[in-house]
Parts: sequence; structure tokens; C-alpha cells
Amino acid sequence: MTETAKLIIDGKTYELPVITGLENEKAIDIRKLRAETGYITYDPGFGNTGSCQSAITFMDGENGILRYRGIPIEQLAEHSTFVETAYLLIHGSLPTREELTNIRVVLNDQSMVHEDMQEFFTNFPSRSHPMNILSAMVNALRSFYPELMTTEELIERTMLRLLSKVRTLAAVSYKISRGHKVVYPRPDYTYCQNFLNMMFDSPVNPYIPDDDLVNALNLFWILHADHEQNCSTAAVRVVGSGRVNIYASVSAGIAALWGPLHGGANQAVIVMLEEIQKNGGDINKAVAKAKDKNDPFRLMGFGHRVYKTYDPRAKIMKETCDKVLAKLKISDPLLDSARKLEEVALKDDYFIDHNLYPNVDFYSGIVLKAMGIPTNMFTVMFAIGRLPGWISQWKESMDDPHWRLSRPRQIYIGKAKGDYLPIDER
Ligand code: SDX
Repeated sequence: MTETAKLIIDGKTYELPVITGLENEKAIDIRKLRAETGYITYDPGFGNTGSCQSAITFMDGENGILRYRGIPIEQLAEHSTFVETAYLLIHGSLPTREELTNIRVVLNDQSMVHEDMQEFFTNFPSRSHPMNILSAMVNALRSFYPELMTTEELIERTMLRLLSKVRTLAAVSYKISRGHKVVYPRPDYTYCQNFLNMMFDSPVNPYIPDDDLVNALNLFWILHADHEQNCSTAAVRVVGSGRVNIYASVSAGIAALWGPLHGGANQAVIVMLEEIQKNGGDINKAVAKAKDKNDPFRLMGFGHRVYKTYDPRAKIMKETCDKVLAKLKISDPLLDSARKLEEVALKDDYFIDHNLYPNVDFYSGIVLKAMGIPTNMFTVMFAIGRLPGWISQWKESMDDPHWRLSRPRQIYIGKAKGDYLPIDER
């Protein structure tokens, strides 16, 4: 017996089917609503609207739960690597030893970028934001790899190519922005070792990837790998719904992630903490500004559309801060400010009443800073981490029998019908 929801409009009762998820989440299926009632729903920001049914990630915002393909984020953070987690998200289960070896071979084979692409980097204005460059370069990959994804083998190769090359594109853009020699990937390095080496190795200062930093980078990217239908993943799905290639869809996701309310928050948190420090470290003043309705200032790294409790990723990121900074014998005053800010905010009625807690971005910038990543590349780091999520969600939408071209409706509130006026009569 299908569960239904009753809707009474103009005295007539309509029965709409109810869809139930594995964890008993409920959705009213309104696919026939307009045809049967002439009505549409209204939900700016889609906070109450399900765009799809997905088997990739489960989030419980009230209880701070996050699972990739059923596995709790805490277990993946403790036991997995970024490449293994990427395999899990894309293929639906953890890889066997052989499958993991095979994916590593392909990621290595695909890790170089076409030499002609270096020309593109040098022609960007020197002060271009790395997210601007990354979004453009990912879209440009389509020009170098035009083959259509017509077979499972071509789809797999394209997805892994993207996963491997985006890391290289990010490191190359950093090196070129510094006027430094580009460092090529090495076959004897893992995915994360290669990224750090491509970023920081130099002929005059040979870089040896530090195991603790490599582990912290693996963890950072695992925590960012997917997050169900967030703004940038929704963008990837919407653009992909036009049946455009994965490069263009992911390029749109990178653009969406750049926003300071979304992935750009990790850079905005550091700017905010430095601002607080510059103004004498008055935490209470910052908290008061964040509460002031007349002040557009928001506490960056705080609050979340779904989590109404502590973001489980922020908990792990905070622990990582302590470990990485202790190991590197770094005492970052920004971490002290972040801790004080968290302590004051979590005791403040405004934040308690609004369910505002630290999210993944609140501590992540401090870990990246300890790794030596420049602040303007923090969101690029988020983008590389979110790639397996974007790729798996794009693939799932392509395979979804219910998936249609995304085209929302609207309620028109503009001018009534009028006539064109010749310019001399206006
Ligand atoms: C990410 O969706 C995802 O999963 C995203 C993400 C992922 O992994 O993909 O988790 C990554 O984007 C994390 C969020 C990073 N952004 C920030 O840290 C920016 C600061 N946060 C806020 O801008 C805000 O919390 C949002 C945008 C994250 C969520 O905002 P919502 O759900 O749209 O809620 P809202 O803006 O309508 O705010 C509700 C109330 C308002 O007060 P009232 O008008 O109801 O009295 O809460 C207040 C807001 O003013 N509020 C804040 C606040 N966030 C919300 N007040 C002060 N500081 C804040 N940070």
C-alpha cells in the first residue's frame, strides 16, 4: 500500500504519493502536482525540496551524522585514504587490493596535463584568483579530451582523468603564479604526496613530503569528498542535466563552490580571524557584529543549512589542527582565536537559538595554513577534495531513470501586460 499525503485545494482532495528513504526520511512526490492542481510549490534556496533520490551520501543534520555509501565519516577519517574514499564514492563500495592498485596506476598515468595548457596559465592576469583559473582550466580539458563517454570504460577513464589532472592543474597554477618552474608528478609518489611535491618542490630547495602532512591532506580531502546535494553539487547536477560533458558540469561546480557562503568560507574564516586579531583580538565585538541584524557580517565557518548541531567534519578537523600544529611545532595565534571564538559563540543565546555551530570550514584553513598552502588556494583545496563527490553525483544523475532536464518554475510578480511605446512617447 503506497503511503500518501492529502492536499485539499479549493475544496478538492488530492492524494500525493510519499517516498520513504532508507533512514525513513519522507518526501511528498509532487511530480504530478501542477498537471493535477495547476499549482506549483515555492521554496527559494530549495531547503525543503528534494531534487533526486541518491545512494551516495547520507546526512542527518539534527544528529550530526555523515556517511559515504553507508560508512561513517569518522571511520573513513581514521582508516581510509582519499583515493580509496574516492573509489568508494564513485563505485559504491570499498576497493579490493587489486582494484585499489589499478586505480592508482590509472591516476598516475593520467596525472600529467597537456603541455599546451601551460600557455593558458601564463596568459591569465597575474592576480587571477586560483578558483577562477581552476574553473576555466577544467572546462578547457574538454578541448584536449573530446572523446564522448559512450562506454563504461571511457566513462571510468574520463572520471579518473579528471580526478588526477585537477590536482596537477592546481599545483601548476600555483607554481606559474609564483614564476617558479613547474614540478611534474612522480610515479613513485601517492596522490597526496604528489600534490604536496608538485606544490613545494624546487630545484634549490628539494621537498620531501612529510608523512604527517600527507596524512593530514588525506584526511582533509576525505572530509570534503561529498556532502549530498550542497550548492556546488546541485550546480554540477543541474548543468549535467542538459546532458553536457562532465568537464563543463564540474567547472560549474567549481564556480559555485567559490562563493564565501559555500566553499569560499574556508578562506573567509582566515580573513575574519586575521581581522579580529588586527582589531586587538576582541572576540566579543565580532560575535556582537555577527548578531547585529543591521550588520551584513556573518561569523564565517559557523552555521549550516543542514547541520543544526556540530558538523561532524569540524570535530575531526579541530582534532587534526591540534595534531598537525603540535607535530610541526607551530603555535598559530589564529587557532587560539578560533578556539576562543567557538567558546564564546557556543555559549551565546543567539547562536544556541539559531543552532549555529562550527562547520567544516571553521578549522580547515588553519590546517591548510600549517601545510603551507596559500590562503587564496584554500577553496581550490576544497574543490580537489569535493571532486569524487561531484563525479559520483554526476554519474548517478546520468544513470538515474527519473533524471530530467532541470528547469524550475516561478511565480511572476512583474508588470501587467502593456504595449510597446515609440521612444518619443516614453
Ligand atoms: C559549506 O550545504 C553544504 O553541505 C555545504 C558544505 C559542503 O560540504 O558542501 O557543508 C560546505 O558551504 C559550509 C558552510 C560554509 N559557509 C559559511 O561558513 C558562511 C557563514 N554561514 C552562513 O552564511 C550560513 O550559516 C549558511 C549560508 C551556511 C547557511 O545559511 P542558511 O541555511 O541559508 O540560513 P540563513 O542564512 O537563512 O540564516 C538563518 C538565521 C538568520 O538569522 P534570522 O534572520 O533567522 O534571525 O541564522 C543566522 C541568519 O542571520 N545565521 C547567522 C550565521 N548563519 C546563519 N548569523 C551569524 N553568523 C552566521 N554564520
